[in-house]
Amino acid sequence: MINPNEATPIPRRIPFEFPEDIDPCWIPGDPEMSAMVNGASLGMPYLEPFLIRTIRESMEHVDDPKLRADMAAFNAQEGQHFRAHRRFNDLIKAKGYP
Ligand SMILES: [Fe+2]
Repeated sequence: MINPNEATPIPRRIPFEFPEDIDPCWIPGDPEMSAMVNGASLGMPYLEPFLIRTIRESMEHVDDPKLRADMAAFNAQEGQHFRAHRRFNDLIKAKGYP
């Protein structure tokens, strides 16, 4: 449910880089959780741009300035996310992750 009194989210750049030599099994002692999170990450560069396009198209039908600001912030945030996921995915694939 949308709370109109909540502050518009502030999109942020992700303040770290993934190590070039990242081990695809990056959670020590927990290969299953590593695989689950890796699997989710591999889908994000497809999901998040879809969400951005969906929100952008929906904005044509929204007049409320606060909601439009929230939607724009969401899109900016998702833009940061999918780029970070793509970087991470490229690194684990380069290390042989299937
Ligand atoms: Fe996201």
